[in-house]
Amino acid sequence: MKLKQLESLLGSLQQFSSPKIELEQYPTGPHIASRMLYTAANTFGDVNNKVVADFGCGCGTLGLAATLLDAEHVIGLDIDPQSLEIAAINAEDLEVDLNLVQCDIRNLGWRGPIIDTVVMNPPFGTRKKGADMDFLFVALKVASQAVYSLHKTTTRDHVKRTALRDYNASSAEVICELRFDVPQLYKFHKKREVDIAVDLWRFVPRRNQGKCL
Ligand SMILES: C[S@@+](CC[C@H](N)C(=O)[O-])C[C@H]1O[C@@H](n2cnc3c(N)ncnc32)[C@H](O)[C@@H]1O
Repeated sequence: MKLKQLESLLGSLQQFSSPKIELEQYPTGPHIASRMLYTAANTFGDVNNKVVADFGCGCGTLGLAATLLDAEHVIGLDIDPQSLEIAAINAEDLEVDLNLVQCDIRNLGWRGPIIDTVVMNPPFGTRKKGADMDFLFVALKVASQAVYSLHKTTTRDHVKRTALRDYNASSAEVICELRFDVPQLYKFHKKREVDIAVDLWRFVPRRNQGKCL
């Protein structure tokens, strides 16, 4: 599928109807989501025919992009049942399979690397300090091939150091720096829209060292 077609399909998806601030429910827009998954698929070969998990899938944008780019099997996981309902409707509208699991990522009981690739836009940790790193810790435990994740650029040094030193990543690379649009979703937002600097990361779990991509 062409990038423009992917972006257009992702642009048609329903998003959070009443977003929950405590869960940092900000949707990834179609421009960023399409480029994130397109790069994972076409530059690194991490999507086509792979088992992909979307951590904190919300309304399913990243996971659905993986299905559209020919992942073998995609699982979307989120703590919020209402978001999962919307993700299910989105999958139905696109006529693709998306398996959905309600769970707290921090308590995910999966043992070992049973997923090829994890894609995620985790909570940035603005409401619950360290939430993004909790997601990354679990992602690097269950992925065998790669983890793609968005983190605030201000946390770059911390993310890199922690991933390599404590979370068993063999490499941690910022693929690109993005401006992430946060629309006026919540009452405390004074401006119609703000954008924040965000890094798109690609992490490789240590056990995958030497494996051909
Ligand atoms: C920034 S939003 C991203 C949503 C979606 N992946 C996207 O890209 O549009 C973060 C998502 O993580 C979910 N979330 C927050 N804490 C969670 C947790 N502990 N376990 C599972 N999901 C969680 C939220 O409900 C929300 O859907």
